[in-house]
Amino acid sequence: MRNLTYYVTIISILSVLACNSILPGEVEENEVLDGTIEGLSLEEQIHFGEGDEAFAEIFTSEMGLGPIFVETSCISCHVGDGRGHPFSELVRFSHIDAQGNVDHLESLGGPQLQHRSILGYDAESIPNEANGQTSLLGPPVTGLGFLEAVADEDIIALADPDDLDGDGISGRVSYVFPPDYYEPFAHNISNNEGKYIGRFGRKAKAVNLLTQSVEAYQQDMGITSEFQPAEPEGSNIAPHEPDISTDELQAVVFYLQTLKVPPRRNENDPAVLRGEAIFTNINCSGCHTPELTTTDFITEGLSNKTFHPYTDLLLHDMGPELDDNYTEGSATTAEWRTTPLWGLGLATDAQGGNLFLMHDGRARSIEEAIEMHGGEASNSRDAYSALSAGEQVDLIAFLNSL
Ligand code: HEC
Ligand code: HEC
Repeated sequence: MRNLTYYVTIISILSVLACNSILPGEVEENEVLDGTIEGLSLEEQIHFGEGDEAFAEIFTSEMGLGPIFVETSCISCHVGDGRGHPFSELVRFSHIDAQGNVDHLESLGGPQLQHRSILGYDAESIPNEANGQTSLLGPPVTGLGFLEAVADEDIIALADPDDLDGDGISGRVSYVFPPDYYEPFAHNISNNEGKYIGRFGRKAKAVNLLTQSVEAYQQDMGITSEFQPAEPEGSNIAPHEPDISTDELQAVVFYLQTLKVPPRRNENDPAVLRGEAIFTNINCSGCHTPELTTTDFITEGLSNKTFHPYTDLLLHDMGPELDDNYTEGSATTAEWRTTPLWGLGLATDAQGGNLFLMHDGRARSIEEAIEMHGGEASNSRDAYSALSAGEQVDLIAFLNSL
């Protein structure tokens, strides 16, 4: 454990660096994803710093990595707190029978493929029994505390499962059974069957950032914790002391909760403003909700704030093209949680100058991503195709300013 003076010194050095442009080729402040939300106390900034360090920690077999795993650190898949690259994709598989029953093939190492192993252990491969699989890229991890702080009732109010307003967009709340160790925040309400709203992950399976992080440690790196003491399915290793401490885990969660929102750029540019109006006109905003507010949450800086994530946190049927015949939580195979669009214009920074959008990175440009929208998003996609070339350019300019 490093002491307070250490962190105070680091923080002061960092602030000097941030204020004076003494570094050659420095990135503009409004293009950087790392950094805290406003209003954190000194203690909270230190806690954030510990989480930042833990998020970047590279695990070795001595530290408990594996025995089977996908990557060795959180940042390998969330580079610069941004999105993942196909190099670090995750693969999950299952078997779905003719009646639609889902078997995650846990006895065969499912649902997640750990395709790497430490010395002396066999890595997994996809069993023949699997009849559906999906590849997932890590989403950016910025601004997530705000999403965690949205009141359940606000998410429920956005849903329209029977499409009563007839706009072709339904949107379902993802109700899931949380893990045993889950302790709901005041604003999390059970639907009385013992389920809670899932809001994180591509299929909105994780109820909060703690459960998402516990699962990431265990499933992606084979790092066990107080909350998830078992090694990943298929590891064949005896139970043992947790690989990471609860303090470290909680620091990572606090870090995720207090990472700032991706900053907007050029928001008053006339093309961007025209694009913003088009975004609403063709009802992209029907799912990519521009504005949400938070309720009382863990710290002042996250409480009762208005923010602009461009997601409704709901599940939408995106049509057969985006159906990988794999699912988890309460989503169908064709349903995905609306991806937040904040930070979209900074995506190439984390992806080596390229762009890999949608859950598995199959879209190589924003235009391609829009054209891949089907199902509930078909009307919006068709309206996009019907725009003039100039209007399309404006819409993309707006999306790039997010
Ligand atoms: C092998 C790559 C990989 C590693 C390593 C990894 N992640 Fe992820 N992360 C992903 C993918 C893929 C998703 C989407 C997962 C899903 O849909 O369930 C994700 C989702 C998340 C989310 C939810 C984001 C959202 O918008 O819903 C958080 C938070 C997160 N990861 C945190 C972590 C933390 C903390 C660690 C380290 C303990 C970590 N990740 C390690 C790939 C990775
Ligand atoms: C019916 C709901 C819905 C509507 C309407 C909709 N989207 Fe989406 N959008 C989604 C979902 C769900 C995803 C995630 C799909 C996936 O990952 O396979 C997504 C993904 C995206 C992505 C990729 C983001 C990323 O980081 O990978 C972009 C860009 C996007 N939408 C833009 C738009 C635009 C522009 C419009 C209007 C033309 C629009 N969307 C309309 C639901 C919707």
